[in-house]
Amino acid sequence: MHIVICMQNHAYVGFNMDNKMKILVVYYSRTGNTKYVAEKIAGILKARKDEIIDLKDRKGKITGFINSMSDSFQRGLTEIEFNEDPNKYDLVIIGTPVWSGGITPSIRTYLTKNGIKKVAFFYTHGRNPANVYKDFENLSARPIATLGLKGINVKSRESQERIKEFCNQIRNEVEI
Ligand SMILES: Cc1cc2nc3c(=O)[nH]c(=O)nc-3n(C[C@H](O)[C@H](O)[C@H](O)COP(=O)(O)O)c2cc1C
Repeated sequence: MHIVICMQNHAYVGFNMDNKMKILVVYYSRTGNTKYVAEKIAGILKARKDEIIDLKDRKGKITGFINSMSDSFQRGLTEIEFNEDPNKYDLVIIGTPVWSGGITPSIRTYLTKNGIKKVAFFYTHGRNPANVYKDFENLSARPIATLGLKGINVKSRESQERIKEFCNQIRNEVEI
């Protein structure tokens, strides 16, 4: 297994508006649903974003999908790239699509590589999110807030409300 980490020098490291807490939103997204939610959350909380890149090509509608299904079913790891060091942040908010009832290989690799202490967790899903919380918590600390949204509904009014609630819950937990 090979993990590539690209660290960049940033003068600004994701302080929220009041400079009280450094928050990072980390996510993987194959088709954009989780990315959409990540961008909303980062916008509301004024947090820095870091998109995890899975170096295995997962784009094709047939081969990409089948490879992804098979890798996630086996709960395997993959090669990833990301930019930010999560240890420099007070809270890391992690987002994933549900694959084979759990988290994606890229997020599994990220959590295995980084022992993050304070986390919040969100996911987007299709028909059945199944064991995604359990899968996440097996590799991570217990999240201070959680959110699950159906992928095809992420832009709905109801989802916008639930994203705001999730952010409010985080604000209350960490006293931003
Ligand atoms: C390989 C693969 C496996 C999936 N497995 C599940 C699943 O077990 N349960 C579920 O509810 N959705 C499943 N989905 C649907 C995705 O979780 C859903 O479309 C999600 O919103 C995609 O997020 P993204 O656009 O950020 O990639 C799967 C999708 C893919 C590509």
